[in-house]
Amino acid sequence: MTFRLRQIEQTSDGREIVRVRNIDQSTLSLGRATDNDVNLPDLAIELHHADILRVDEAHIEIKAADTLGFGVDGNVTLFARVDCRTGAELRFGTFRITVSLDDDGAAVLTIHPCEETGIRSGNLDERRAFALTSVLPGKRMLAWLTASIVLLAFLAVPIISQQFHAVHPKSAIVGDASWSPGKLSLAHHALESRCEACHVKPFQSVRNETCRSCHKNAHDHAPPDRMDQARANPPLAELFLRTVAREFGREGPGGCVDCHNEHRGLAPMAMPQQKFCAECHGALRDKMADTRLGNAGDFGQLHPQFTPMIVTDPGTRALGRVSLDTNPRERSGLTFPHRVHLDPLGGVARMAASIGRGHGYGNRLECKDCHHPTEDRVRFQPVTMERDCEVCHSLAYDKVGGIFRKLHHGDVDQMIADLSAASPHQPVVTGRRRPGEYAPGGAYYSNFASPSGGGLVGRALSRDGICGECHTPVTRGGRLSVMPVTLVNRYMANGWFDHRAHRQTPCASCHAAAASTSSADVLLPKIAVCRTCHAGENAAGAKVPSGCAMCHRFHPPNVVPSRVGGV
Ligand code: HEC
Ligand code: HEC
Ligand code: HEC
Ligand code: HEC
Ligand code: HEC
Ligand code: HEC
Ligand code: HEC
Ligand code: HEC
Ligand code: HEC
Ligand code: HEC
Repeated sequence: MTFRLRQIEQTSDGREIVRVRNIDQSTLSLGRATDNDVNLPDLAIELHHADILRVDEAHIEIKAADTLGFGVDGNVTLFARVDCRTGAELRFGTFRITVSLDDDGAAVLTIHPCEETGIRSGNLDERRAFALTSVLPGKRMLAWLTASIVLLAFLAVPIISQQFHAVHPKSAIVGDASWSPGKLSLAHHALESRCEACHVKPFQSVRNETCRSCHKNAHDHAPPDRMDQARANPPLAELFLRTVAREFGREGPGGCVDCHNEHRGLAPMAMPQQKFCAECHGALRDKMADTRLGNAGDFGQLHPQFTPMIVTDPGTRALGRVSLDTNPRERSGLTFPHRVHLDPLGGVARMAASIGRGHGYGNRLECKDCHHPTEDRVRFQPVTMERDCEVCHSLAYDKVGGIFRKLHHGDVDQMIADLSAASPHQPVVTGRRRPGEYAPGGAYYSNFASPSGGGLVGRALSRDGICGECHTPVTRGGRLSVMPVTLVNRYMANGWFDHRAHRQTPCASCHAAAASTSSADVLLPKIAVCRTCHAGENAAGAKVPSGCAMCHRFHPPNVVPSRVGGV
């Protein structure tokens, strides 16, 4: 053993701590830099200030590394040889090092602490006398006291108060708010002072039945047995976590608090993440052979093609779901070609221009001339004959004293009555005209005059009669009539779409109406069109991040997502 370093440090209350380190080297470096064997943090000391050599059993030599010297028993020098048996006191900056020899032959260097503090604040006794600690109880005592106060105020008071509340339900629970892990959402803000509204039993997580006590309409969206069948088998790690959670009284899977979190700050509650839906819908088909739903886990990547409800049998007005991938044909009962009416250079455009602004028309027909937004601008009012067609497709059939007599629309019996009373011998015009041949000074009119065959009614209800232009003539119960007309207003009732949110997008980017020559065309956009802007919840870049809850509800019976305002 060549050297033994004893480093003495003083705690703030004056106690001494001694650290001992043995160094088996013949030379020690000393200086301010931390890589020295003896490190003295003092700016008055060089980075590498001196070297200490063990020259023999009893002696050491101290050599200054540079021009700055050190003190030996009060004298400043650059070199010293010291007999360890007699000892010496070295000084480096504010540090004092005493040299001695231990019984095992190690040269002992005892490093006394920096004396600066001692010099500045007087001696230890003096310092203690003025310190605050002298009048306070001991630290240990203080710690116990504070801990007891915390326990009493934040644990005992709430627990006792809760016990009291259990017996006297009118009493308020005191002090429990201090346990809150964060502010409640905007919707539940009023319950901030009534934690027990949700946390009914202390130390038990919130129960579904508690949420349901206020939210009586929050039903699951499919029968419980089908929900269970649809749920994925979770991976083992997840299964383990759930078992632990259940041990602590958490319900599930599928509990309200799985999807709805609380204490996330005073804001609307976050919409449930898509992973909760994907848990069942990501691979629904694999688990339920009899479902008609395609798999859905992420709108951008895994989502079925839309299957709108369209009219499949106009006679019975029966609707059926048909995928847009199969190029479906709709049979609404009405004849209406969009293309002729939207052609900017055709007869309709000219007719619209000549009828003009009195009817709100510009130089051609536009979507808005027939599709009038509903009040909330989400969808469109149904097209009506009187408002949207009759201006051009007049039902005038007779002229009496300069006044046109018009057929009542939409009521076959009324029409039959009108025509029976009409005089068939004074035709308004000869030969039936196309609406494009708009007659100046009057409305478009038809001639029912020549009673070939079935009489007036029969002509009107024939294929090229006035009604047959737009309707399919049929015989019902032996009587002439028209095929019922069914105009669907909500094609995709299991998903949400809002025209108001897309008012910046031209109609034509979603509806290929201008090219449609038949009302049998289903003019709805396929999912690919939505995906040009919408991708899943984690969409990056220019795409709109769209979780399931943006377009779907979870709790029936309503279909409008609550985020959009339907509750
Ligand atoms: C509207 C119901 C509701 C009210 C009112 C409510 N909480 Fe909670 N709290 C919850 C839900 C839900 C959770 C579970 C959080 C999660 O899973 O995101 C929860 C979790 C907690 C937790 C974490 C422990 C646990 O069970 O997960 C504490 C602590 C807590 N609430 C304290 C309070 C306090 C204190 C108050 C009163 C200021 C309060 N809560 C009021 C619904 C509520
Ligand atoms: C004491 C009655 C009460 C309890 C218990 C309660 N809620 Fe509510 N909750 C309300 C009220 C009131 C609203 C606001 C309804 C509104 O604005 O129309 C609300 C709103 C909501 C909303 C809509 C949030 C939004 O931002 O629009 C959700 C989701 C909800 N609660 C879920 C829960 C869940 C989950 C629980 C159980 C942890 C729960 N509630 C417990 C009273 C309650
Ligand atoms: C699989 C996830 C999921 C679970 C589990 C779930 N919810 Fe919801 N909840 C949603 C989604 C998504 C919405 C938003 C769409 C909507 O309005 O249906 C919502 C909306 C709500 C709303 C606000 C709209 C409304 O209908 O008033 C309430 C309240 C609500 N949930 C309560 C509950 C309660 C109570 C439970 C437990 C019985 C529960 N939820 C379980 C997903 C879930
Ligand atoms: C526990 C499993 C489960 C979860 C979680 C779940 N679903 Fe479903 N969902 C079902 C089942 C089962 C059906 C009915 C399937 C059937 O009968 O063929 C269904 C049906 C649907 C339908 C078709 C609606 C209809 O009336 O036919 C939509 C849309 C839907 N879910 C969306 C969602 C969304 C969005 C979420 C997340 C907020 C979600 N589901 C969460 C199991 C689940
Ligand atoms: C601005 C005037 C105008 C309006 C409004 C109008 N039409 Fe027409 N419609 C015409 C003209 C003009 C023609 C003939 C076009 C041609 O043959 O070039 C026509 C032709 C038709 C045809 C026959 C198409 C063919 O290919 O033979 C049907 C059916 C029809 N319209 C139905 C309707 C329905 C239904 C409405 C209301 C929803 C309506 N129209 C509104 C001017 C109009
Ligand atoms: C220019 C096209 C056009 C002509 C011509 C026309 N209709 Fe219509 N008709 C419609 C439209 C569009 C509807 C659906 C909207 C409505 O009820 O206004 C309709 C609806 C009807 C309905 C209701 C069908 C149902 O199932 O609800 C009856 C009945 C009807 N028309 C009878 C007639 C008769 C009879 C004539 C001949 C006098 C006639 N229509 C001429 C366009 C026309
Ligand atoms: C971003 C795509 C998109 C744009 C842009 C768009 N629509 Fe639609 N439209 C849809 C979808 C999706 C539906 C089916 C909605 C449903 O059934 O709930 C629809 C349905 C309709 C319907 C039939 C249902 C109803 O409400 O009567 C009409 C008519 C319609 N749109 C007209 C228009 C017109 C006119 C414009 C331009 C002002 C327009 N749309 C712009 C996507 C779009
Ligand atoms: C941008 C809007 C949007 C998003 C986001 C979205 N969907 Fe859809 N989803 C729709 C529309 C629109 C339909 C067609 C609904 C219909 O045909 O009635 C649909 C249809 C479905 C269907 C078939 C329903 C049926 O009755 O045929 C299921 C299941 C479904 N979505 C689940 C999901 C799930 C799960 C998510 C989240 C991973 C999701 N969707 C995200 C718009 C969306
Ligand atoms: C002259 C009146 C008229 C004009 C102008 C018109 N529509 Fe229509 N539209 C109708 C009638 C009538 C129906 C219902 C019969 C049918 O299904 O074709 C309809 C149906 C629709 C539907 C329902 C889906 C479907 O497959 O039938 C959409 C979407 C639609 N129109 C979009 C448009 C768009 C977009 C424009 C403008 C580019 C437009 N329409 C211009 C009269 C009009
Ligand atoms: C041209 C881009 C574009 C296309 C195409 C588009 N969307 Fe959107 N959509 C948007 C934007 C932008 C928003 C607003 C996002 C927001 O408010 O955060 C939006 C919002 C929505 C919303 C929320 C509505 C609301 O009131 O908050 C629904 C639902 C939706 N889109 C469904 C669809 C469906 C279904 C389709 C396809 C038929 C579609 N979108 C096509 C751009 C588009």
